[in-house]
Amino acid sequence: MGTTSKFEKHVEAREAVQLLNSEAHSADELMRRITELLNRVMLKYNWVGFYMLEPNAQPPVLVLGHYQGAMTPHTRISLNQGICGAAASSGKTVVVDDVSKDSRYLACSLETKSEIVVPIFVHGEVAGELDIDSHFPAAFGTREDRDLVEYCAELVGSRLDRETAKTT
Ligand code: SME
Repeated sequence: MGTTSKFEKHVEAREAVQLLNSEAHSADELMRRITELLNRVMLKYNWVGFYMLEPNAQPPVLVLGHYQGAMTPHTRISLNQGICGAAASSGKTVVVDDVSKDSRYLACSLETKSEIVVPIFVHGEVAGELDIDSHFPAAFGTREDRDLVEYCAELVGSRLDRETAKTT
């Protein structure tokens, strides 16, 4: 009764992200506003944040960027740690329906039940990722959720591609 259907919600969120992309003056602004928007409009997206690979770091390390939600102890994550490390090192979206059953999981909040991490590609290589945690189990199990989060990651990747265009 009176609730927006799942499909409409995802379509609306996608349109709002499209609008953000046209308004944002930089990839950095786009990332900040995506975290705010997704956290606000998607009820189960309780922690939304970006981790970006530190330029020229050896060994590579993911560094926390813009985020919305509870403070996390994980501000720097190696590629061999966590769901975040798994997504960045494989270059593939990782969806975990029950984090308590995944030995890779690094706890951010005791309330977190499920997680999605989507890599961001810049010039064909992983440059970072969009990480979302939910207080609800299997919050990212549907095609609509995966498509929405992957769409956001692609937009950020395209912006970063343009901002870091090779001049040679
Ligand atoms: N859960 C992540 C760590 C980041 S926090 O969720 C914000 C992981 O397992 O890599």
